[in-house]
Amino acid sequence: MLEVAHIHGGPVLRGVVRAAGAKNAALPILAAALLTEEVVTLRGVPDLSDVRFMAEILRHQGAEVAQPAPGTWVIRAAALTHRTPYDLVRKMRASVCLLGALVGRLRRAEMAIPGGCVIGPRPIDLHLRGLETLGCAVTSEGGLVRVDAAAAGGTDVDMGGPMGSTVLGTANLVMAATLTPGVTRILTAAREPEVVDLCALLTKMGARISGQGTSTIVVEGVARLRGCDHTIIPDRIEVGTYLVAGAITGGDVTVQGAEPAHLEAFLGKLREAGVSVETGPGFIRAHGRPTRPVDIVTAPHPGFPTDLQAQFMALQLLVPARSTFTEKVYPARFMHAAELQRMGADIAVEGAVASVHGGKPLSGAPVMASDLRASAALILAALAAQGETWVQRLYHLDRGYERFEERLRALGADVARRPAADLPKGFAED
Ligand code: EPZ
Repeated sequence: MLEVAHIHGGPVLRGVVRAAGAKNAALPILAAALLTEEVVTLRGVPDLSDVRFMAEILRHQGAEVAQPAPGTWVIRAAALTHRTPYDLVRKMRASVCLLGALVGRLRRAEMAIPGGCVIGPRPIDLHLRGLETLGCAVTSEGGLVRVDAAAAGGTDVDMGGPMGSTVLGTANLVMAATLTPGVTRILTAAREPEVVDLCALLTKMGARISGQGTSTIVVEGVARLRGCDHTIIPDRIEVGTYLVAGAITGGDVTVQGAEPAHLEAFLGKLREAGVSVETGPGFIRAHGRPTRPVDIVTAPHPGFPTDLQAQFMALQLLVPARSTFTEKVYPARFMHAAELQRMGADIAVEGAVASVHGGKPLSGAPVMASDLRASAALILAALAAQGETWVQRLYHLDRGYERFEERLRALGADVARRPAADLPKGFAED
């Protein structure tokens, strides 16, 4: 049943919210559980549609997947098939990270090539080139890619592409290399905290990895991996989203269970915009509205995260000056701009650069979510807008935010999840 978010702007958000586990760590880590036939226990796994879907794919591959308690997943991949069908892969591009796990464990994989999505084409050419460099035979026909690692051996693999590093491409090569004989050096590796968390899990499973968090990760192949027990890191993108929720309402929000070191570029820009930011072991606090414009350029970690670009754009609508957002990761990731304009925002998008002329009054309106982070940005803008906003296609939000409207309400927001049938006449999608 389609649902919408119904927001009345105005309330000031105050209080404490606890960060959930990182979606973008959980997805490759769930795939990595296939690298052993022993039991892998994961804790702090976020309750998201993408995570539930990944569990469904693991079951399809032949793994037993149980959820003995909220946030705890127990996986045992005793017998596996190396084939992942199109109808599962096409629903979630991140399932591409199964490739590295299946190649690692079974030495072969056959997967439908995932499609694109609204934030831009989502190619996997770097993943496949990396596996070929590792010595795998890679063929693709009819929308399927086949990888055979019989002749694979440790070597130098440069994962760099036109936009720099690739997060899931790095995850795939690390997973494949853990069980590939020899030493593999992954160059231009992604430095994201989620890749570091994947390497932490693999190390607990007996993998020999060093350099994670730098752009050169070294993996020495071993014969087999064993089970382990691992807690997922907090979701830095969700943390950043709640900090913006506090600042955009001129409130005071503390996120518990957050890791400040994962968000240095973002917190630096919050401070540059004039928001007061306090950090300590396990918490980040943001209070006060932004007062200054900023120029943001997204980049692979440790640069400003593309996944917080839309949320920061919503925030800068409050500042009566020109802020710019340059997308160096997904040049077309501005679907939210047109929807924000419906609320009165003055945003000009030219190629990969969006210029925001803030300070215009925001008024509530019926708007349409287009992707995960854009839907969060629309809700954030609605918190600061005059009047009512209806955000449609809320399923985008549920992919990456656990009980978002419930936790915003706990901070004082006037937001409710309603069936799409409640939309005022004329607002509903045709
Ligand atoms: C991960 O996607 C995240 N998803 C994305 O988060 C995030 O936006 C992205 O990294 C960048 O940080 C997960 O971790 C599940 P990339 P990923 O490969 O790994 C190009 C969210 O909102 N590229 O680092 O797929 C690509 O087109 C999602 O949670 C190639 O050209 O991203 C992009 O321009 C959205 N060829 C750039 O590299 C390839 O083979 C970075 O993509 C692979 C990527």
